[in-house]
Amino acid sequence: MSALPTPDFVVTGATVVSHDARRRQDIAVKDGKVVAVGDALAVDGVRSLDATGLLVLPGLVDVHVHLREPGMTEKEDFASGTRAAAAGGVTTVVDMPNTKPPVATAERFREKLELVRDKAFVDFGLYGMLDHDNAEEIGAMAELGAMGFKLFMGQTTGDNRCPNDAAIFRGLEAAAAADLVVGVHAENDHLLRMFGDRLRASGRKDPRAHLEGRPTFVEVEAVTRIITMATEARTKLHIHHLSTAAGLQRVVDLRAQGHRVTIETLVAHLFLDETAYDTYGNLVKLNPPIRPAADVAALWAGIDRGDVDVIATDHAPHTADEQAETDVWQAYGGFIGVETMLPLLLTAAARGRLTVEDIVRLCCYAPARRWSMSRKGQIAPGFDADFVLVDPAADHVLDAAALHSKHNVTPYAGWPLTGAVVATYLRGRLIFEKGEVIGSPTGRQVSPARDVESRG
Ligand code: DOR
Ligand code: ZN
Repeated sequence: MSALPTPDFVVTGATVVSHDARRRQDIAVKDGKVVAVGDALAVDGVRSLDATGLLVLPGLVDVHVHLREPGMTEKEDFASGTRAAAAGGVTTVVDMPNTKPPVATAERFREKLELVRDKAFVDFGLYGMLDHDNAEEIGAMAELGAMGFKLFMGQTTGDNRCPNDAAIFRGLEAAAAADLVVGVHAENDHLLRMFGDRLRASGRKDPRAHLEGRPTFVEVEAVTRIITMATEARTKLHIHHLSTAAGLQRVVDLRAQGHRVTIETLVAHLFLDETAYDTYGNLVKLNPPIRPAADVAALWAGIDRGDVDVIATDHAPHTADEQAETDVWQAYGGFIGVETMLPLLLTAAARGRLTVEDIVRLCCYAPARRWSMSRKGQIAPGFDADFVLVDPAADHVLDAAALHSKHNVTPYAGWPLTGAVVATYLRGRLIFEKGEVIGSPTGRQVSPARDVESRG
């Protein structure tokens, strides 16, 4: 150990969980980075942080959040949303561009960066939008550090117009030239509008109409079309929030034919099924919708088989009033989730549904690799000292009032959970402990490293 610089502090006594193993090891941290992971790293005169009995995971990387700046800060903002992330053990978020106005030009990207850069309590990447006419802006946004580009094939919150196939293809080519990921919301917009109009005309207003208006083949069609185009354009493609058994099977089949694409499922699509419309009403309106139990089971099976690459939240806040809307067509899609992802997944782990190593693979290691975040997603020398201390045995009940978002309306309120976040560290600094977010915002922009090979 003599070759090592003296660390600033050492985490001792914990079990360090990686994407494929867990070991009782110490972690030495200096200048915000991990400098060593191994046995007996404690040094006289150096602060040691006793984490006996706890698990240490890399800070989670949530590649799908909507923090609503600019233009919708009545729902959430960068400070509130990243405080929630810190409290949930999420140390890096990737923020979506469907804001008002949308982030579809380099100018808007620069403005957004300026607006949010001093407000974040965790590190953040920003997506640009793949719009109907902005292929020439893609490279410029890449220069400004865009993590990738979001393509909405189906309409959702915000002013996003869905591009036609020619515009999509031009955008895919531009993203491929910039070597960045395109993340897609895969639902066919024309079909969504037609089914929605039909249901509205029939007088339906109940929450379940949302599910009926977005049938499975609408996702399967969009997935098939975008994978076909992205292969032709040689674009790194990621399917956000894949929600159906048939959609998953289509991706598996296309991969077997040589198409390369990564898949994400949402916490909400894993923990809620269609009975949620009866229990929670329009609060669980989500695009794509919460599905029948058979789809939920297929997504879990996809996790078991390793077909699903990433779990994310689609943290999509709305105001408490908006979430109380009873007419399904007036209600908004999405709800908060960045703070509850890890406790829910730890609960699933405690019940044997997946392992904590799986959680690290799906929420830390794989997203960091896919988006070429060279210093995130692992606890290893040279990586940022982002980690979360977890008590895997803590039984508690989810208290919505204790959450950190602007509007703490969640279907998970009152759910019995096993597993809690004890403390969160961002680049070696304690940012959350025992229910409290600590200090001022120190989050920084994260951009894809040009020298890192991404999977998929
Ligand atoms: O339900 C959703 N809400 N799905 C999305 O894709 C976007 C999100 C939002 O921004 O509100
Ligand atoms: Zn989303």
